[in-house]
Amino acid sequence: MNNILIVDKLSKTYRSAFFRIKHRGIDSISFTINEGEIFGLLGPNGAGKTTILKIIVGILRADTGKVLLNNISVNDIEYKKLIGFLPENPYFHNYLTAYEFLNISGSLLGLKGTKLKDRISEVIQLTGLSRFGIEKMKIKSYSKGMIQRLGIAHAILHNSPFIILDEPLSGLDPIGRKEVRDIILELKKNGKTVLFSSHILQDVEMICDRVGIIAEGELIRVGVLEEMLANPKGYYEVKIELQDRDNISELTRYGNIIDIEGNKVFLLIESERQKDELIRMMLVNAKGRIIKLLPLQRNLEDEFMSLFKIGNNNEK
Ligand SMILES: Nc1ncnc2c1ncn2[C@@H]1O[C@H](COP(=O)(O)OP(=O)(O)OP(=O)(O)O)[C@@H](O)[C@H]1O
Ligand SMILES: [Mg+2]
Repeated sequence: MNNILIVDKLSKTYRSAFFRIKHRGIDSISFTINEGEIFGLLGPNGAGKTTILKIIVGILRADTGKVLLNNISVNDIEYKKLIGFLPENPYFHNYLTAYEFLNISGSLLGLKGTKLKDRISEVIQLTGLSRFGIEKMKIKSYSKGMIQRLGIAHAILHNSPFIILDEPLSGLDPIGRKEVRDIILELKKNGKTVLFSSHILQDVEMICDRVGIIAEGELIRVGVLEEMLANPKGYYEVKIELQDRDNISELTRYGNIIDIEGNKVFLLIESERQKDELIRMMLVNAKGRIIKLLPLQRNLEDEFMSLFKIGNNNEK
């Protein structure tokens, strides 16, 4: 796969207006994004997500490090054309309609005439804004979900290949979240690469190809979701129904007994080998039957929390 974005050792320290006191921003962040993937930046409040995104968009300068998009540097004039951006708290001119606003920003982006008009209809359709009957509605009467949709419509207006969305799912109800997730998936289907930030684990879990976990200004893990969620140590939970309770002690050879309910035993097995041996023993000896055998999956939340704890323990 082609890298579309290369982020290399980005660091940024903020300074307060008074006394120029230093505040941690981000520290030596490096990662790459493949063309056509959905990449999620996940981290708690204040972790550094917005700082990273603003540097990639080019509205904030890093102290050190570099960003290359399609091999073009962030300082290059061509760079901006490659990016569509939804800021964290988008703000629009309240007394315009969405059509008027998109018309002005489209013109500023160099679009005009029927091409612009058609593209505006397209993005209004794609973001689901068309369903709200917004033809004459001023932006000031938009709900949070509609504002978020308008922000996305603006971000994708000039059809750039790389879309960056800062917290596109924040403040939305579950239906709104699902709809915005679907818009992001639709962008991917249309060949776009999407980078977005979130602190909502489930949303990231549902749509991202890869995730970068940020804590206290550092990127502590980057990975393919399936690999992060995989059965990491070959642990299995097994439920067995024995014909005879006398055989319970024999099961300790294969794993740890967690619970016993009559003839039913819950077992935690800690290796692939022991799991295979248990299955063989059950087949050969027929002393009972396996009711359930499941890999013990860690979900992203466990992953996230455990990584975050490591970050805290090290006082990063
Ligand atoms: N303009 C600024 N001046 C000083 N410090 C700042 C400024 N902007 C961000 N910071 C600090 O940089 C760190 C990272 O902030 P950032 O906004 O990037 O985090 P975030 O992950 O986007 O958080 P959130 O989930 O709350 O949006 C925080 O400690 C924050 O206080
Ligand atoms: Mg932020």
